[in-house]
Amino acid sequence: MPDTFDTAKRAFRDLRVSVTDRCNFRCTYCMPKETFGPDYQYLERTELLTFEEIARLVRLSKDLGVTKVRLTGGEPLLRKGIEGLVAQLRAIGDLDLTLTTNGSLLARKADALASAGLDRVTVSLDAVDDATFKAMNDVDYPVAKVLEGIEAAADAGLGPIKINAVIKRGVNGHAPLAMARHFKGSGHIVRFIEYMDVGSTNGWRLDDVISGQDIVAAINAELPLEPIKPNYIGEVASRWRYRDGSGEIGVITSVTAPFCGSCTRGRVSAQGMLYTCLFASSGHDLRQMMRGLASDAELSAAIASIWETRDDRYSDLRSEATSDLPKIEMSYIGG
Ligand code: GTP
Ligand code: 5AD
Ligand code: SF4
Ligand code: SF4
Repeated sequence: MPDTFDTAKRAFRDLRVSVTDRCNFRCTYCMPKETFGPDYQYLERTELLTFEEIARLVRLSKDLGVTKVRLTGGEPLLRKGIEGLVAQLRAIGDLDLTLTTNGSLLARKADALASAGLDRVTVSLDAVDDATFKAMNDVDYPVAKVLEGIEAAADAGLGPIKINAVIKRGVNGHAPLAMARHFKGSGHIVRFIEYMDVGSTNGWRLDDVISGQDIVAAINAELPLEPIKPNYIGEVASRWRYRDGSGEIGVITSVTAPFCGSCTRGRVSAQGMLYTCLFASSGHDLRQMMRGLASDAELSAAIASIWETRDDRYSDLRSEATSDLPKIEMSYIGG
C-alpha cells in the first residue's frame, strides 16, 4: 500500500488511539483535581468510539501506511473488555501493537492482554519513592502496586517495557537518579520526559521544566552513560546506554529540542476526533462520518486528505504567540 505524506513530507506511520477519557489517577500535570473533581462531566458511553469503530479506523490507517498503533487514555485499562479490542486489532495483521498505562491494573490484566496479542506496554511512572509518587498521582496510590504491575507485564512477555517519567521541577526533579538506579540492569527502559505545555489546565511554566540534558548529566555523574543511535528515524526519545553494559535510558526533549520535523503521529480521541498534533486546538470528526454511514473508501479518503494537508509543528514554534491558544487536554488524547 502507498504511504501517505503531509505537507512537510512526513509519512503517516503511528496511530495513537484514546479509548477513554477517565483515569483513576489525578496527576497534577495532566488531570489536576481542581478541574477533574467529583462533578467533572466525562464522556457518555455512547459518545466513545466502539471497538468496531476503532478497529475500522486502524484497518484503514494501516492501508494508508500506519505500522504502529498505541492505545492510550486517560487510563486505557479502565475501558471494559479492552483485551477484546486488542484481539480485534491483532486480527488486522502485522502492526506494532502497544499500550500506555499507569500500571495500576496491569497485574490483573497483563496475561489477558498478552494472550489477546498485545506486543508490549509502556508504563507511566514518575518516581520510585512512595512519597514523591503519591505527590504526583495525587490519589495516594502506592508505588509498590505499579512496580508489581510492571513485573507482571514482563512475566507475561509484554517487554521490552518502557517506563515514562514526566519530570517537573520542585515535585520530582530529584527522582531521575533514583529511578535510573532502580531499573538499571532490569531490562526495562526508563525515559524521562520534559514537562510539556499540553492542555490548558495544568498551569505550565517554562521554569518547571528540567531539560533532558540536565537529567542526563545528573545520572551520568553517578552512573556513566554514552549516547547511542535511534532505533528508527523519528524516534521520540534520545537514547543513552550505561557504559558498564547494564541497559539504557532515554530522554524526550520536546521542549528544549523538539522533533516535529520527523513527527509521524496521528491521534484519535476517545470520541473519535482525529488530531494531527498533540497541541492541536481542533480535530476532525471521524465518528460523525462513521455513524453517518460513510463507506470505507470515503473514510479512507477523508483521513488521507487530513494527513496530506497537515502542517503542524507546534513544538518547533513554541512561543509566547502560541501559548494562549486553546489546546486539547492530555486526558482526551493520551500523550
Ligand atoms: P516507542 O515506540 O515505545 O519508542 O514509543 P514512543 O517513542 O512513541 O513513546 P511514547 O508513545 O511512550 O511517548 C512518550 C511520550 O513522549 C509521550 O507520553 C509524550 O509525552 C511524548 N510524545 C510522544 N509523541 C509526541 C509528539 O508527537 N509530540 C510531542 N511533543 N511529544 C510527544
Ligand atoms: N508533559 C509531558 N508528558 C505528559 N504526560 C501527560 N501530561 C504530560 C505533560 N504535561 C505523559 C504521561 C504519560 C503519557 C500518557 O503522557 O506521563 O506517560
Ligand atoms: Fe492518568 Fe496518565 Fe493523566 Fe496521570 S498522566 S492522570 S495516569 S492519564
Ligand atoms: Fe508532532 Fe505536534 Fe509533537 Fe511536533 S508538537 S512532534 S507536530 S505532535
